[in-house]
Amino acid sequence: MIVLGITNAFDSGASLTVDGKTVAAANEERFSRRKQDDSFPWHSIEYVLAAGGVRASEVDAVTYGWGREFDKHKILPALSERVIRAVRQEPDSADVVVTRIRVELERDQVRRDEMAKIARENGWAGKLHVYDHHYSHAGSAYFGSPFDRALVFTGDARGDFRSATVHLGEGDRLIELDWRSSFDSMGFYYSIITFLLGMRPVRHEGKVTGLAAYGDPQKCIHVMRQMIGFTENTIYANVGRMYKPFFTDPPPALREALSHYSKEDVAAACQQHLEDVMLAYIRRFLDEQKAAGKPVENICLAGGLYGNVKLNQRILALPGVRNVFVYPNMGDGGLCVGSTLNWLAENGHKIRRPIDTMYLGPAFSDEEIQQALDAHKVPYRPMKDKVTETVDLLARGKVVGWFQGRMEFGPRALGSRSILVHPKDPTVNDWLNKRLHRTEFMPFAPATIASLAPRCYIGWREDHLASRYMTICYDCTPAFRENSPATVHVDGTARPQVVFREDNPDYHDVIEGFYKKTGNLSVINTSFNEHEEPIVCFPDDAVRSYLGNNVDCLVIGNWYVGKE
Ligand SMILES: [Fe+2]
Repeated sequence: MIVLGITNAFDSGASLTVDGKTVAAANEERFSRRKQDDSFPWHSIEYVLAAGGVRASEVDAVTYGWGREFDKHKILPALSERVIRAVRQEPDSADVVVTRIRVELERDQVRRDEMAKIARENGWAGKLHVYDHHYSHAGSAYFGSPFDRALVFTGDARGDFRSATVHLGEGDRLIELDWRSSFDSMGFYYSIITFLLGMRPVRHEGKVTGLAAYGDPQKCIHVMRQMIGFTENTIYANVGRMYKPFFTDPPPALREALSHYSKEDVAAACQQHLEDVMLAYIRRFLDEQKAAGKPVENICLAGGLYGNVKLNQRILALPGVRNVFVYPNMGDGGLCVGSTLNWLAENGHKIRRPIDTMYLGPAFSDEEIQQALDAHKVPYRPMKDKVTETVDLLARGKVVGWFQGRMEFGPRALGSRSILVHPKDPTVNDWLNKRLHRTEFMPFAPATIASLAPRCYIGWREDHLASRYMTICYDCTPAFRENSPATVHVDGTARPQVVFREDNPDYHDVIEGFYKKTGNLSVINTSFNEHEEPIVCFPDDAVRSYLGNNVDCLVIGNWYVGKE
């Protein structure tokens, strides 16, 4: 069974799943070099088909993860009630709610029409299966997880009129328990604050999370509570004077209310309130299952909201929760896979669970890499022992552009397209960010081999699949704080990548060799990209980044590029 998954909206992309295993996946931004590209993912489709060795005509099904036909019987009555509530509370909110609904109807229709037209033109029309946005997020989270029973939470700004859903995953079924409208959106809430802090919504939310550790949440959390909150046992926003479900153009009263506080305190309050609301909401469903005599101990998460590594850490710490899995391409870039997994489950086809890799993108041979090096006329030489030489470079404090194997699918670099650096010097967060033209408030992330992880991260367990993909924070042990200070945040946490040898042998061996040589329990792993550009994909991208002085040297395939 060969299934092509597609999304053609924000961070569009494609995936190919063969006999229940995703064999290739990529987002369009990596090919077009336009971050979060929303154009139709022709490059991604071409790539996944070629990587899987199949022709488009051989595909059994095409699944689409955004924009199911508007469900009039379910969504419309609930939305109408929601609109009436909003206008009753604040008559002035009528404009806001009407605009919200119109924007969603009109914008999404354009995407749906485009997808339908392309499906007709390519002979996919009879094979096309369209799934709801949040149901697709839920599919990626649950069917990507190792659990047979789990509560599945999705959260983002909005998709198909919803901002959050709750499902119970049982066996091969996802049973919907609840959903919240795109008015009551914790995603919009967080993005508006991101915007008010002078950062770019839907891109820089992670900076707000990092900045939060420097502030006092109590100073202005009362303002956050006026925007949205956990009331009447669910999430409700106060649409109007203090909150609007849009990324930009915040209400003047909100701007004014926050103008009296430092950026750090605003970020801290924003993060604290997000955690308070989401934990209360999640606890409700844990309690309900427990009260029904069927307690659930596993949680699955997807949607951009769960790119928030601090929130995920708090969810794992909830009483009764044993494990948390976050689909590693948690944002809309992962919807293509989610829709495919839903279709497979609904049609009784086997899904190989859990996911075992996110190295689903293109790889390049040494010959292909050599062509790029020649084209740029950079000096290079073959490496006899890539691992040992890289360990030596890191030990000497070099900033290494590590370009190996298949590119990662999702927002995190996981040791295929990574910049690797020594973790000892805390000032690295200043000078390397400056060099990479980045402003970050969270320190660089550590990569640690699995056998050393218990010495570093409090509560870490081998079955924490989320830690393999850098989707969750941990409190660090005193030993680790002292050992790898550059990777520990002011609040004592880190968001590690725990590396198992079977996932990426060379990368694992570099980190292990570095430990043996220097005693350091981690290596800094940060994404290999130009300022505000997508992560590098092609050898050419990596060489350009090297020439732009982002890294001291490249270890690219079996080639070394550097001055010495
Ligand atoms: Fe989404």
